Amino acid sequence: MAYQLLKGKRGIIFGALDNKSIAWKVAERAFEEGAVFTLSNTPTALRFGELDELAAKCNATVIPADATSVEDLTNVFEKSMEVLGGKVDFVLHSIGMSLNVRKKRVYNDLNYEYLNKTLDISAISFHKMLQVAFKLDAINEWGSVVALSYVAAQRTLYGYNDMADAKALLESIARSFGYIYGRERRIRVNTISQSPTKTTAGSGVKGFDALIDFTERMSPLGNATADECADYAITLFSDLTKKVTMQNLFHDGGFSSMGMSLSAMSMYNKSVKISNIISEGLEELD
Ligand SMILES: NC(=O)c1ccc[n+]([C@@H]2O[C@H](COP(=O)([O-])OP(=O)(O)OC[C@H]3O[C@@H](n4cnc5c(N)ncnc54)[C@H](O)[C@@H]3O)[C@@H](O)[C@H]2O)c1
Repeated sequence: MAYQLLKGKRGIIFGALDNKSIAWKVAERAFEEGAVFTLSNTPTALRFGELDELAAKCNATVIPADATSVEDLTNVFEKSMEVLGGKVDFVLHSIGMSLNVRKKRVYNDLNYEYLNKTLDISAISFHKMLQVAFKLDAINEWGSVVALSYVAAQRTLYGYNDMADAKALLESIARSFGYIYGRERRIRVNTISQSPTKTTAGSGVKGFDALIDFTERMSPLGNATADECADYAITLFSDLTKKVTMQNLFHDGGFSSMGMSLSAMSMYNKSVKISNIISEGLEELD
């Protein structure tokens, strides 16, 4: 259902790759809610992804950028203001990538060049985005900036690797820059900590299928989908959340407050029983 929550607002959405991407869903919802916006992703993503399809659907201009390049980001903000006819009201940072994860380098055997890239792409790009926009004075008063995070920033989850460190830095940047933006520009900066979600980036995480089943069992409301994440992002871009800033906002069906659930315990008990039967069987064979 659309409520015209973003009527008259302009924005920039970074990170839509294909129709599974969280940023893609946010763009669709922002369009439904009456916003005008530009879309940005890397030249490679533009070649291999489906961004033109989304752009056509949302009447949006696509501006290529590697989010680690200050020059590219400057171009995105300048061009967006030109195309949209003024400063923007919202920005979505929906960007993440780890070469260590991709190349299956585990956390106690990291390649440090890859780690630098992980941090630059997945976290420092957020600082660069905020700094570029600040210097260009590109965001309107009471504007809203949102980046996507994950609970592994604060709790250890097997397999999330160096992305956990990147997300911790991302959340810290939201607080540090959020203070400056709030104090000087009345602009809010937050992160949404989203449930595991089946997207290209998400599926790259080691043991993703088991993880998503586990978090589904652990979350009283179940995992949050990409569409639901988009709904939440829209509220944060709207005027209904003007005093929410410098927060990491969990959007995870309650997972982050759980220790153990009935459903996860039942599954655990079942597997303990099975493994006991197997080991008893093996003892009998000995
Ligand atoms: N999928 C999940 O389980 C999950 C959970 C919590 C948080 N998140 C976060 O949500 C965000 C969006 O990821 P997604 O799940 O929609 O996956 P996705 O793969 O669809 O999106 C990741 C995007 O990052 C872009 N990107 C990579 N390197 C870039 C660069 N140098 N410059 C600009 N863009 C670059 C990719 O092109 C892609 O569009 C990420 O920050 C991710 O960590 C995802």
